[in-house]
Amino acid sequence: MSVQQLFAPIAADMQAVDAVIRQRLHSDVVLIRQVAEYIIHSGGKRLRPALVLYTAGAMGYHGTQHHELAAVVEFIHTATLLHDDVVDESELRRGNKTANALFGNAASVLVGDFLYSRAFQMMVGVDNMRVMQVLSDATNVIAEGEVLQLLNCHNADVAIDDYLRVIRYKTAKLFEAAARLGGILAGADDETEARLAAFGMHLGTAFQIIDDVLDYSADESETGKHLGDDLAEGKPTLPLIHVMQHGTPEQSALVRNAIEQGGRDDFAAVLAAIQATGALDVARAHAAEESQRAIAAISDLPPSLFKESLLQLSDFAVARKH
Ligand code: IPE
Ligand code: IPE
Ligand code: MG
Ligand code: MG
Repeated sequence: MSVQQLFAPIAADMQAVDAVIRQRLHSDVVLIRQVAEYIIHSGGKRLRPALVLYTAGAMGYHGTQHHELAAVVEFIHTATLLHDDVVDESELRRGNKTANALFGNAASVLVGDFLYSRAFQMMVGVDNMRVMQVLSDATNVIAEGEVLQLLNCHNADVAIDDYLRVIRYKTAKLFEAAARLGGILAGADDETEARLAAFGMHLGTAFQIIDDVLDYSADESETGKHLGDDLAEGKPTLPLIHVMQHGTPEQSALVRNAIEQGGRDDFAAVLAAIQATGALDVARAHAAEESQRAIAAISDLPPSLFKESLLQLSDFAVARKH
């Protein structure tokens, strides 16, 4: 199922979210407008805002604050991408040059700060202490995740649990917050809010495992990102951990060395070891398990079109090619 099909039930809401994004992106500083508009109008999938809209809808919310919070979540996501591409030294995002490649590292970092702080202005405007708590916690945990990942780079001894911790923090936490927010706006009880949060957390974990699979297997014209960025940074992701644990001593040594050295020289050899050991299928199976946990977490929600969309999103997170 395509993202467009997936978004059919929330098409009008998404337009409202886009209007909020356009309006709130404004700054009198020209460079901020240039960089922020460049990245935010470059065709991201908008999955995190969709999660706010679906969960609010599934809980019967009828106000308009979900549009504002969906935009907040997309601003936080976009700020993390601006910073992440600087840290990862990435050159391609959404099929275009990254902001750091086009405008430089300094502009990317500073406009990322602008987006984070604009997101915080907007969330204060919503005037709900629970909402502020959830979003400030999530933003803080994302930063911890990116720093933890930095510490793990070039470390070939990273265990699966260390890897999972990084992706729960840097990626799944924002999915969790987005899913939780819909419940909070709709006045869901604590138990239901916790189920929505668990849904988002498992969905986000599956989503990042697949992102890491795609870094070795995608069609660049579909993801709009360069293959091999993770290996270049010496990131010990799940496919590599699998080869080190289950490959021959030679395959294991090859991957260990590639992680420690970084760069792109060993990409073809590492890819061959990944394929020979079936590491991508193992990682996909792990993502599928997370997706099943996400589905189980919301099985008790009342049936609705929005709930159906959440279930379809769980499938998309695993089957996606971009
Ligand atoms: C990219 O997220 C960063 C990860 C957490 C893997 P998305 O794949 O949702 O990025 P866009 O917004 O659709 O470009
Ligand atoms: C996700 O990690 C980054 C954030 C959550 C900020 P990646 O580094 O794998 O994301 P991409 O591949 O650059 O989109
Ligand atoms: Mg990156
Ligand atoms: Mg990636």
